[in-house]
Amino acid sequence: MPKFSRRLQVARLACLLSLPLLLLPTPGRAAGAPSLQVLHWWTSAGERHAAKVLAARLADEGITWQDAAIPGGAGLGAGKVLRSRVLAGDAPDATQIIGVSIGEWAELGLLLELDGVANSGNWNKALFPTVRELVRHRGHVVAAPLGIHRINTLFYNRKLFARLNLAPPTTWPEFEQAARKLRAAGVAPLVQSSEPWQVATLFENLLLASGGPDYYRELFVRQSPQAAADVRLALALQRLRAAKAWMLNPAEEQPWTEAVKRFGRGEAAMFVMGDWAKAELGELGYAIDADFSCVPLPGTDNYHLYSVDTLAMFVNDYSRQGAQEKLAKAVMSPLAQQQYSAAKGSVPVRRDASQAAMDSCARSSWRAFGRGAAAQAPSLVHRMAADEESRDAIIAEIHRFYMDDSMAPAETQRRLAGLLRTLNTRSHKQGSTHGAQDPDRR
Ligand code: BGC
Repeated sequence: MPKFSRRLQVARLACLLSLPLLLLPTPGRAAGAPSLQVLHWWTSAGERHAAKVLAARLADEGITWQDAAIPGGAGLGAGKVLRSRVLAGDAPDATQIIGVSIGEWAELGLLLELDGVANSGNWNKALFPTVRELVRHRGHVVAAPLGIHRINTLFYNRKLFARLNLAPPTTWPEFEQAARKLRAAGVAPLVQSSEPWQVATLFENLLLASGGPDYYRELFVRQSPQAAADVRLALALQRLRAAKAWMLNPAEEQPWTEAVKRFGRGEAAMFVMGDWAKAELGELGYAIDADFSCVPLPGTDNYHLYSVDTLAMFVNDYSRQGAQEKLAKAVMSPLAQQQYSAAKGSVPVRRDASQAAMDSCARSSWRAFGRGAAAQAPSLVHRMAADEESRDAIIAEIHRFYMDDSMAPAETQRRLAGLLRTLNTRSHKQGSTHGAQDPDRR
């Protein structure tokens, strides 16, 4: 579809959506009351702790945080609830919208522009360039950034590794060697879930390891069908299958919080997950660098596979603009940034954040992200690389390959190439601006 007609279509949709929003006050909440309803998917112990930190900083401004938490790792449920609430004219005041989704909502004209807050807080200077671009849409700031998560994080159990005299692996052969030794000692090497987004999280790690950030972007951001025929994709698929063989209950679909618990109890020695799992382990009473540590997934040492959490504000009838701006300002304060990331497992989005209070995992993440765009890769699963439709379709293909051991990597490559061709035709991605996450397009 040509870009012009797509814009027109979006504009029409915006009219349809915003009409009821402008006419109806949000039910159950009196206009002008000093409270904001915040929709998010932070329901684990570490996530709740982080939300409480934000609520406390908002309370400092005299505003109450009304919590609207929708369970479901990676925001599967929250996204659906948000869409239906907006269509019903009941948009929340603030919501966790991340990555490419920010642009999708902003394009509909539904998000409050936060330029005033951003200018007076000098966000331009304070933010890492990647984050700065991520919260902008058509020249306006439309979201307040919270923290940067590192997805290429391999957790390992320090006691099990010490008992077997193992060093944390830095290459794939070292990973396999450690896995063999663990299994020979009767320890499951890896715990992962077969839930589609979790499988795809492991896979995007393996793809970054086999292809590096440029190739990763070629496949997931530019969505080039040629890239799907590449040997680096075949290698990542083979490694996904090999990793499956090292897992405790590889076909079991469990929430990520369950996998964290199993890892914490020592039921398996390693676990690949975004660093929010570090916060969860802390809440469960496990100490970093005593019970567990984290290293970048083997082969991704110099890279940062990132997901940035952000809060966007719905315009609604503008009656809450003052409070919404205060929330945006509050979350960017150095204190909130430090406290939030300490509770959430992420690192601050501010370049002037102090490293003194960071643990070893956060310091490593901070340094890797600080290397700049060439070392960074946007997480597909966590919406940093592609729109919702592409993301869901690619995740489904990876999951299919993972579940069906008889499927050859070449077959999945063919299917992915076909899928990318279809997605390209639909959105003309290759010629259009596809988001701030692709440094070649900035
Ligand atoms: C979000 C994190 C959240 C994680 C698990 C990610 O998409 O960015 O904030 O902790 O999902 O639900």
